[in-house]
Amino acid sequence: MAGSMRAWQIEGDGGIDALSLVERPRPEPGPGEVLVRMTANSINYRDLATIRDPLSRGFPLPRIPNSDGAGIVEAVGSGVATVTPGAAVTTTFFQDWEDGGCTPAAMASALGGAREGVLAEYAVLDAGGVLPQVPHLSGEEAACLPCAALTAWNAIFETAALRPGDTVLLLGTGGVSIFALQFAAAAGIRAIITSSSDRKLEEAAALGAAGTINYRDVDDWPAAVRDLTEGRGADGVVEVGGPGTLQKSLDAVRVGGTVALIGILTGGTIDPLPVMRKSVRLNGVYVGSRRMFRDMNRAIGKHAIRPRISEVVPFEDAREAYRLMASQQHMGKIVIRF
Ligand SMILES: NC(=O)c1ccc[n+]([C@@H]2O[C@H](COP(=O)([O-])OP(=O)(O)OC[C@H]3O[C@@H](n4cnc5c(N)ncnc54)[C@H](OP(=O)(O)O)[C@@H]3O)[C@@H](O)[C@H]2O)c1
Repeated sequence: MAGSMRAWQIEGDGGIDALSLVERPRPEPGPGEVLVRMTANSINYRDLATIRDPLSRGFPLPRIPNSDGAGIVEAVGSGVATVTPGAAVTTTFFQDWEDGGCTPAAMASALGGAREGVLAEYAVLDAGGVLPQVPHLSGEEAACLPCAALTAWNAIFETAALRPGDTVLLLGTGGVSIFALQFAAAAGIRAIITSSSDRKLEEAAALGAAGTINYRDVDDWPAAVRDLTEGRGADGVVEVGGPGTLQKSLDAVRVGGTVALIGILTGGTIDPLPVMRKSVRLNGVYVGSRRMFRDMNRAIGKHAIRPRISEVVPFEDAREAYRLMASQQHMGKIVIRF
């Protein structure tokens, strides 16, 4: 059908099985906007959580999921001088966060949440809501960057401000943690990583991890982190586990270290006392700004970093991508190819 496109949409609280593939009118870019023909999406745990429980998030339904896409600019609206048709671009998670600290306005511009997402053949985005793709990356690789990579970058270099020679603790081998491992390795930061899988830990070592710990086998993994840091603890933690891992992360971080609080993979309760006793800096991280994204892209280009993609699923089978993520068999990223 001319003038139409296919899109996946969340229609209610039925979870992955209730995602539906629909025909919608192809959107037109208004002033200051661009129309992007998507070539790939990557998915994040947050997209799975949104699909599982959309009603609590308070956005209107139906809603197209996903924040992370790559594609080709098809057309631009009036007044757009910075982006040209034919350009290969990557979406930014927040359409409206250029630099400085996060703001309510930025939070209200998140794709696949407050704003319509990008699991559609075409998406209209702000001209400032796309960035040029890093040249050495394919569209599928570029689609991995907007959320997971930028969150890892923000946690390590902005929030924890780690330097060469420091040690960072990474939890599990999902999208955020594997990018954090790759960035740490490129920057000369020692990475200690945990996983439930020895196979994944072997691969993490090959990607540059200096220390590996199986958190299923080693319940007292903070002690293992101290052993690997001459009793000191990690300088920074990329905390993706949430309430169920935070207490141990506080145990594993050094006195005066930083815990970058990112994730919600696990539930539990926290005793905040060690935050005070160890003078820990506990800092929430919410993806990152466009300026951070540019800095990250420069480093990815310079170090020829390629995202670690576990699975690529065709657009028509998008539901399978979320099922794969729910199974936690993946390492790094899961991609949807259009
Ligand atoms: N604040 C933000 O801006 C932001 C941005 C991105 C992501 N996040 C959050 O960060 C978390 C990770 O996101 P993601 O997209 O990277 O997820 P993901 O790719 O789905 O990561 C899943 C992996 O986490 C690991 N994991 C699960 N439970 C664990 C535990 N108890 N201890 C250690 N590792 C555990 C597992 O690794 P193994 O299989 O190796 O055991 C699992 O495979 C999510 O909660 C997400 O919502 C937040």
